[in-house]
Amino acid sequence: MLKKAAPLFMFFLITTVMIGCSFWDEGQADNRLQKEAEQVEQDRDKDVHYEGTSEEISASLNENEAEETEEGYVISADKINEVITVDGQAVIQNPDNIFANINREFLLPSDYIPDDLVAPNVRFSFDEDVEKRYLREEAAFALEELFTAAEEAGIELFAISGYRSYERQEVLYDNALTNHGADQEVVAMPGQSEHQTGLAMDVSSRSNGFALSAAFEETDEGQWLAEHAHEYGFIIRYPKGKEEITGYDFEPWHLRYIGTEIAEILFENDWTLEEYLGEVTPI
Ligand code: DAL
Ligand code: ZN
Repeated sequence: MLKKAAPLFMFFLITTVMIGCSFWDEGQADNRLQKEAEQVEQDRDKDVHYEGTSEEISASLNENEAEETEEGYVISADKINEVITVDGQAVIQNPDNIFANINREFLLPSDYIPDDLVAPNVRFSFDEDVEKRYLREEAAFALEELFTAAEEAGIELFAISGYRSYERQEVLYDNALTNHGADQEVVAMPGQSEHQTGLAMDVSSRSNGFALSAAFEETDEGQWLAEHAHEYGFIIRYPKGKEEITGYDFEPWHLRYIGTEIAEILFENDWTLEEYLGEVTPI
């Protein structure tokens, strides 16, 4: 009898231990995930700088995803907006794409928040640790390079406004409607602002009273920026004379990070992002 029961007992024992272990593993995994999530939050609160080394970030900057060939300009197809239509509007499904085209036609999802926001170590016009101090990691690194080069050329730039949440853009847009009416072409509708990507930074100077105004174009700082921003992967996104194409007034202060390959192409051809996308072939 005892001999017959022994294998049965062993089977129950092994099964119980295995089930127990799997629950323990899941528990451990849950704990680990929870800890990792907490760490991410803490890192963000501590204003931790970059996750990658500058070499790693430089390498990612140099990935050749857009270039000129004998057949003309080409771009990786996955770098073009992927959209679905919601309530008659084209909503971008790959908003982390560094080449994303956000304008009056293509919107970001209202719940999109970049997951790699950091505060660039550059001169700001304010001291507070608020969301407008932040940019996506790659853009933040490039902005530091841009500000360092400006400094070396005797140009003192000030960062004014970077990342904006959808909710913050709603407030700014409502204010603009109240103050300037429905035809205003200065502040984008929520979902249509590049600031929500974490790839845009408004920049000004002491000489322009830290203002975001067209007069910035005439300052030494504005002129230096117009000539050199592309070398660090930024474009002046809303240029003078292209208002019909971009849908916005001239903004000499609004820098959009897009990487050096495309920034150089736009600069050399005097194109907006929309004009470039009309010329380039996705491959
Ligand atoms: N001023 C630009 C268009 C924005 O509101 O994003
Ligand atoms: Zn701006």
